[in-house]
Amino acid sequence: MKNETSKQKNLKFFGIGKVLPYLKNYKKPLFFMVLGSLVGSLVDTGVPLFQRYALNHFIGEGTLDTIVLFVILYLTLICGGALFNYVSAMYSMKIEVGVDRDLRNAAFNHLQTLSFSYYNQNSVGYIHSRVMSDTQRIGSLVSWTVLESLWQIGYVVGAVVVMLAINTKLALLVIAVLPLTVLLFSLFQARLTKANREIRELNSQITGDFNEGITGARTIKTLVIEDKMEKSFVADTASMRRKSVGAARLRGAFAVTMNFASSLALAIVLWKGGVIAKTQIGTFSMFMSYAQGMMEPVRWIVDAISDLITTQVNIERLTRLLETKPDVNDSAEVTAIYGDSFEPKKENWEPIRGDIRFEDVSFQYPDGDEKILEHFDLDIPFGTNVAIVGETGAGKSTLANLICRFYEPTEGKVLIDGRDARERSQLWLHSAIGYVLQTPHLFSGTVRENLLYGNPDATEEQIDRALELVSAKGVVEKLEKGLDTDVGEGGDMLSTGEKQLISFARAILADPRILVLDEATASVDTITEQKIQAAIDTIIRGRTSIVIAHRLSTVRNADVILVVKDGKIVERGRHEELMAAKGVYYRLYTRQYEDEATYSVLG
Ligand SMILES: Nc1ncnc2c1ncn2[C@@H]1O[C@H](COP(=O)(O)OP(=O)(O)O)[C@@H](O)[C@H]1O
Ligand SMILES: [Mg+2]
Repeated sequence: MKNETSKQKNLKFFGIGKVLPYLKNYKKPLFFMVLGSLVGSLVDTGVPLFQRYALNHFIGEGTLDTIVLFVILYLTLICGGALFNYVSAMYSMKIEVGVDRDLRNAAFNHLQTLSFSYYNQNSVGYIHSRVMSDTQRIGSLVSWTVLESLWQIGYVVGAVVVMLAINTKLALLVIAVLPLTVLLFSLFQARLTKANREIRELNSQITGDFNEGITGARTIKTLVIEDKMEKSFVADTASMRRKSVGAARLRGAFAVTMNFASSLALAIVLWKGGVIAKTQIGTFSMFMSYAQGMMEPVRWIVDAISDLITTQVNIERLTRLLETKPDVNDSAEVTAIYGDSFEPKKENWEPIRGDIRFEDVSFQYPDGDEKILEHFDLDIPFGTNVAIVGETGAGKSTLANLICRFYEPTEGKVLIDGRDARERSQLWLHSAIGYVLQTPHLFSGTVRENLLYGNPDATEEQIDRALELVSAKGVVEKLEKGLDTDVGEGGDMLSTGEKQLISFARAILADPRILVLDEATASVDTITEQKIQAAIDTIIRGRTSIVIAHRLSTVRNADVILVVKDGKIVERGRHEELMAAKGVYYRLYTRQYEDEATYSVLG
């Protein structure tokens, strides 16, 4: 995965500008949020003024003449303030939820347009946190953080203005404490943020180790490295403990400093308030309220600024996702005729026959450093069953990727029905290709829903027939609710082999002209493999098929077997021909055969 930390350093501080367009739809809520929080904070600044009046007038002068009016005004003020705070909180919530949703939708829609290669280069976990947690942090930054900051700034400004108006000298003394406080808080804040980040990183390291310890338990045991694993785990947790204690100390010291700062402000008021001003009791109490009341907002504002800075990372990462251009694009002319994934113009799609041709294809992965294919030619007329074999890394999957146009040739062309694939849309091609991978994927939902992804209009008989063809009826019959059984997230209720059979049935329902199977039997047991092999033999009939096989015993019936080595076809022919030639295929085959014989003897 890409290294994030190096990029964090040269972040532009106002990456927030990139989020502003997403606020355009929220002008009204923004207006009310800002207004509500400013008025709410001003009302709160007014409270000490009322205290002052009450103390000076009712207690100092000992008269209750204005008490009724006072109580009415005071209550109005308090209720008004609460109302404004409520309104601003409500609108803030609206903004948070709305912006979060809009960003998620934008990210999700954009992800649909990105090519296969993006998913190859970025893990599911990485993409998931971009779409879920980054959007959430940004949403809360533009709503709650803004709301709180405005409120706190409003309070500080209000308090300063009132104090200056009532007693300039004393006000200046109290205000003089502010820069010191800001400085102290910023120092702490920076260290706290750093400590928290380290703890988060350690935490994910520990979680990762923990997962590895569980999922890799068998490997760890067979390698007899429990000792080593435990040591590294213990070291991590110890370091976690140290860091957590350090952070807790820091937080403690922070709280003490806060107290100190507000006591200092208070002390100034007590001391100077008595000496210089010979202040009335009410004014005295008002200053004390402000002196103490201003500390929390200062902390908040420093907090908000640090929030703004840390959220830059989220903004940066999310915008990078939103600005990623797909590697494979349909040209404007193609889109004009064939439509795009959101608005396909199926009426203009010509039917696909299923001829595939590589013409002088050279290919290099966008982030790869060497050419995988060089001047590669291959002709697969419709209806041919091609098997591709070769060692790991030979370039088999790369061929499949190029056929499916998950990638495009660096030079040369891949022709579908005699025309460059780039002359038609990706969707047009994908609608005619069935692609089954080594690791089958089912969507959460019922078995039936999964099958219908293949063809939403399939009838009950068609479903039944498809299951029959791939010997998957047994799988469904075993399930409690048959076709209506929920398969769980990612189909986790079923075994890999069962999922594979269902995904074959799904592929058949789609009735694709071209079928690509990339090591579809590699991760299942031998019995299931035989079933799947029988299924493959049935479903490739009447289609162009490309079967990439891990076990050579499964490709004996292919029309043509291609033996690939370092991106070149080193041999081609039928099984018997290749065996007779006693070349690469012969050696691969006999070696595998011997290996398998050995395994079965060893049991
Ligand atoms: N997404 C990718 N980016 C860069 N290089 C890749 C990528 N996928 C595969 N390769 C490289 O291309 C070569 C062929 O890989 P592949 O076609 O997956 O082989 P096979 O399927 O035969 O095992 C390998 O050297 C592999 O490292
Ligand atoms: Mg492969």
